[in-house]
Parts: sequence; structure tokens; C-alpha cells
Amino acid sequence: MQISVIGLGYLGAVHAASMAKLGHDVVGVDVDADRVDALAAGKAPFFEPGLDELLTEVTGTGRLTVSTDLADVAAAQVHFVCVGTPQRTDGQAADLTAVDAAFSDLVEHLAHGAVVVGKSTVPVGTAQRLADQMAAARPDALLAWNPEFLREGFAVQDTLRPDRLVYGVADGAAGERATAALDGVYAALLADGVPRIVADYPTAELVKVAANSFLATKISFINAMAELCEAAGGDVARLADAIGYDARIGRRFLNAGLGFGGGCLPKDIRAFRARAEELGAGDAVAFLGEVDAINTRRRARMVDLAVEVLGGMVESAEVTVLGAAFKPDSDDVRDSPALDVAARLAELGAVVTVHDPQAIDNARAKQPHLHYERDLEAALAGADALLVLTEWEQYRELDPERAGTLVAQRTVLDGRNALSRSAWTAAGWQYRALGRR
Ligand code: UGA
Repeated sequence: MQISVIGLGYLGAVHAASMAKLGHDVVGVDVDADRVDALAAGKAPFFEPGLDELLTEVTGTGRLTVSTDLADVAAAQVHFVCVGTPQRTDGQAADLTAVDAAFSDLVEHLAHGAVVVGKSTVPVGTAQRLADQMAAARPDALLAWNPEFLREGFAVQDTLRPDRLVYGVADGAAGERATAALDGVYAALLADGVPRIVADYPTAELVKVAANSFLATKISFINAMAELCEAAGGDVARLADAIGYDARIGRRFLNAGLGFGGGCLPKDIRAFRARAEELGAGDAVAFLGEVDAINTRRRARMVDLAVEVLGGMVESAEVTVLGAAFKPDSDDVRDSPALDVAARLAELGAVVTVHDPQAIDNARAKQPHLHYERDLEAALAGADALLVLTEWEQYRELDPERAGTLVAQRTVLDGRNALSRSAWTAAGWQYRALGRR
């Protein structure tokens, strides 16, 4: 099929490349010329395992072309809108400027009977509003909402082998036509047995924020238990293992530590609350305020712990922070708990050196006053305290004996419960972690 993808950020770039991999002819459009140039050369504009290889393949076969000119989408039968919906600068709600602009610009370029598919995460009610606008301008065109569930670090596999496909469509014949178009796009996935759920617009929009809210709640639940463990002298990692064996609870997303960050979970739960308030249903998701508060308290707790192990002498203390990305296998530092803690310690007067295998450039752009070190051993040299704040594999594999010969003080704070406590203490380290004695 002829497909267009509007917005080539995280979601759009991966979606465009993956749809080309499925055999469609895809044109991707973005306003950012540098991003488009990189993609045209088969280079992902961000770190995502497997994406460079996929881009090289699909730009090489000609299945994927990219452009800054929206007019280039005119031949497509199905258009995916993948632009960002960040948190508004003046509040908690989502900023829909890019979505609204993409839809109004796209309407000018639609072929007869084209299907426009929203993938961006939007406040419930947006799809119906856009459908009404589109119907007024182009009654022949159709709208569907098809939320995306990909995780950074696993984006390609999540797109090519998703857990489920969700279509939000209009009632009646229009909805059937939109469903048939999406079935055509995803035919290979459906043939592989990927479950498909067809719903109305509000349900499809809510599925996305409900899923992210559940995940955020699960993380904050275990972090609340970490607070209890700290107060009572328990061990949250053991607790998570024990409750996780109950299949109804499950062990995934029960890793206590510094909490969630990134471009999705934090802003999605805030936007969901804001939208629920507008709908007069704020009480139903008021608990998400608590989820958010538990999450940010973890960062403050980590700073306090660092101050404690430094004996209160933070001024000029040498602190090494391992990890700047909001999670491993990503160079994304949006709302990164690790970078936030590093910045707070620097504000308190510590000399903070940050290491990250991929995120240093992005971190430096956001927090230019911190010291950055690309060599791990050089980053460890002379540290009074070592903070492991993003659980990259290379940090899990650190040899505590070797690391101990480089630092000034063998003090490690494990912000992600990612290290072997017994191995580090056996090597003479003072080991501290969130939610553990
Ligand atoms: C999240 C969702 O997992 C995806 O399903 C969704 O599609 C995506 O948002 C989105 O809305 O686009 P992502 O932001 O890539 O994906 O990151 P996650 O893997 O969900 O991790 C989020 C944060 O939670 C990270 O900071 C991670 O370190 C933290 N986390 C995760 C924990 O603190 N504990 C855990 O047990 C798991």
C-alpha cells in the first residue's frame, strides 16, 4: 500500500521504517530538515537498537523515502499522524499544537477517500473533534485512531511484533472502511496472530493513557513499598520477587528505584488528570497525582542518601553518576530521573561527573554545567561516592574490585537495585540502595 507518516520523531521514524519493512511504499515527512537528511542517509536521529540497520535496508530498497514537503504525501491511501504531544509549558495538559497543525495541513493533500490515522497520544475527545473538522472539509476522507505502545529501546520489535493492535473508528460503514484499510496495512501482523481490538474513538484514546497510567502506578506502587521498607527495615527487592510470583501481580514493572521518567509516562499521567478534570471525572484518576508524587519523592530520597553517605559534606565532594538516560538502551534524557539527581547534587555544591554510554550529548545540551566523561574508568577516578542511576548492562557488569581501585571512597548508591549487593559489599564497598537495608 501507499502510506505516509507525518512526524518522524521516535514514533514516526520507527513506524515509517517498520511499515516499509512490511512491504509498503512509505513516504515520511517532517519539518526538521536535519532529521530528514539523517533518515534519508539511513541514520536514526536518536539511539535505538536495530533502527539504523532497518533504515539502511528500507531506504536502500526505495520502500521508504523522506521529505520536508507535505505535498509529497498526496499519493498515499493511508496517512499516519505521529507528531508529538508534549506537556504544555503553562500547565499539566497536553500541547496539541502539532497534531492540530498536521491535520489542518494534511487535509489539503488528501487523495479521494484517503484514511487518516492518528497515532499520537491525545486527550480523549480529540479524535472526534478532528473527525468533525475533517468531515466538514473533506467528507470523503476517513479518520481512525490507532494508538502506539512501543517502548524506547525495543521500538522496532514492538512495532513489528506488537502485543496488540487497537483501532478507534467511527460507527457504521465509515468505521468498517477504516478498519479494512488498517487491516490492509497490518495484514502481515494479523496473519501472525497479533490480536486486534476495534473500538470507538474515546475507547481507543483511553486505552493508550490507561495502559501508561497502569504502568506508572505499578512502578509507584513498588516505590511506595520501598518507602515502607526503608521505614521498617525491609527489603523491597525481595518483596517484589515474592509478590511477583503471584501471576495476577507479575514481576515485570516492579523494579523499585529512582522511578519513571522519559517522554511518555510522566506527561501522559499529568495530561490524563487534566483531561479527566475537564470532563468532570477528576476524582476517578486523582490517585495519579499520588503516583506522580511518589515518583518524584524517590529522586529527593536519592539526593538525601547521597548527602548522608558523604557525611553532609557535599560541597566540593566528587560524585560520579553512572547513567543520564531515563532508562538503559536509550539516549533520551527527557524527564530523566538520573540527570535530575545529578543536577540537584551539583546545585548542592558537589562536583558531579556523569557517564552514559549513549546519552552524553543530549544530557550536556540540557545540563551544560555538569562534567561529562565518556570513558567509564576515567569517570570513576577519585569519586567520593558512586551513584548508579540508569541500569545499563555495562554498569551491572562492573567489577567492584577493579572499580574500588579507581575511586577515592568505596561508597556506592544503587539507584536501580541493579548491582549485586553481596559482590559489592564483599569487595569492601559501603552499599546503599533505595528500599533496602
Ligand atoms: C512507555 C510504555 O512502556 C510504552 O508501552 C509506551 O508506548 C510508551 O511509554 C509511550 O507512551 O510511547 P517508555 O517511555 O519507552 O515506554 O519507557 P518504559 O520502558 O515504560 O520505562 C519508563 C520508565 O519507568 C523508565 O524511566 C524506567 O526506568 C522506569 N521503570 C520501568 C522503573 O522505574 N521500574 C520498572 O520496573 C520499570
